Amino acid sequence: MKIIGISGSPRKDGNNERIIDYVLDIAKQKGFITGRIFLSEYKVEGCTDCGLCKSKKECAIKDDASKLLALIEDADAIIVSSPVYFGSVSSQLKAFFDRTIVLRRAGFLLKNKIGAAISVGGSRNGGQEKTIEAMHAWMNIHGMAIVGDGSHFGGIVQKPFEEDNVGIRTVKDTIYKACDFLELMK
Ligand SMILES: Cc1cc2nc3c(=O)[nH]c(=O)nc-3n(C[C@H](O)[C@H](O)[C@H](O)COP(=O)(O)O)c2cc1C
Repeated sequence: MKIIGISGSPRKDGNNERIIDYVLDIAKQKGFITGRIFLSEYKVEGCTDCGLCKSKKECAIKDDASKLLALIEDADAIIVSSPVYFGSVSSQLKAFFDRTIVLRRAGFLLKNKIGAAISVGGSRNGGQEKTIEAMHAWMNIHGMAIVGDGSHFGGIVQKPFEEDNVGIRTVKDTIYKACDFLELMK
């Protein structure tokens, strides 16, 4: 079974990318196939509501999104990590989320995939839970099956990730939970 990790940060080698590598390493050790999407490496424009995807599984905007949509369509679980930007997800991640409407209109192609979320802020209480809520909204609207960290909402981190021991615990518990659910689905 395959887990795809998405970093929503525009910054290469930043906290979100390090966290995605960290959780995918854990998943790999547990025997899952993993893949990663670092949005810092791609160009994904915002949806323009042109309506083309209402009639066919195609997007009028020709950028990197179609390649990324194929990767998440192929996954059994999707774990997303976003920086907190003004109390919500990054604009890069929101643009990608909006472009996934193609998969919803083509027959809810993300339905019942496991979804889990992690958020990283500069402050201890900088809006990580609200950011996770925005990611959970995307997952719910696709009909995904959301898991948290076993007691709360997911990974809650204050940067730098490596120094936030409480945050690291929530990140670990979130990937463990996603892996546990994948095992149950086998
Ligand atoms: C435009 C912008 C808005 C931000 N807003 C918040 C915020 O509301 N709360 C917070 O805790 N940190 C905020 N930050 C800090 C980022 O969340 C933090 O630098 C980021 O999580 C680091 O992730 P990265 O290293 O993967 O890029 C903001 C940073 C930027 C650039």
